[in-house]
Amino acid sequence: MRGALNDKMEDIADKDLLALAADAMEKAYAPYSGFRVGAALVTSEGDVFTGCNVENASYGLTQCAERVAIFKAVSSGSRQIARIAIVSSSGAATYPCGACLQALNEFALNTIIVLADEQGAIKTFDLTELLPHSFGPDLLK
Ligand code: THU
Repeated sequence: MRGALNDKMEDIADKDLLALAADAMEKAYAPYSGFRVGAALVTSEGDVFTGCNVENASYGLTQCAERVAIFKAVSSGSRQIARIAIVSSSGAATYPCGACLQALNEFALNTIIVLADEQGAIKTFDLTELLPHSFGPDLLK
């Protein structure tokens, strides 16, 4: 898959996906908030895409790390997100914002969200746990 970080990594371990998210966080452009975020997702086809937050002097144009990764995947031809790992410079478990949950929902496939808490313990959530009763593509059919 052109544009993907790695070929065929559908079985990548949660801790390795978190490590890729941490690598991506190093690229964060966050001069205004100072809050750096990294995300790494794996698609149903086993392709991995990463993203970091990209802020802007016009604050509202800021793009979250998760959506950067999602849009990289979709613009590379991948539309089924199996898992996404997220880390932030806070070190605490960093849940996706509501807008990112909605963006994930569009390309969800029983999507699992992978976080690590302050102690480094891995926590996983179904997207439906964080975004129950969602508005999604099925409603527009
Ligand atoms: N941010 C993300 O990248 N993802 C989220 O889910 C929440 C927030 C970024 C946006 C902004 O650059 C910084 O974190 C502080 O809100």
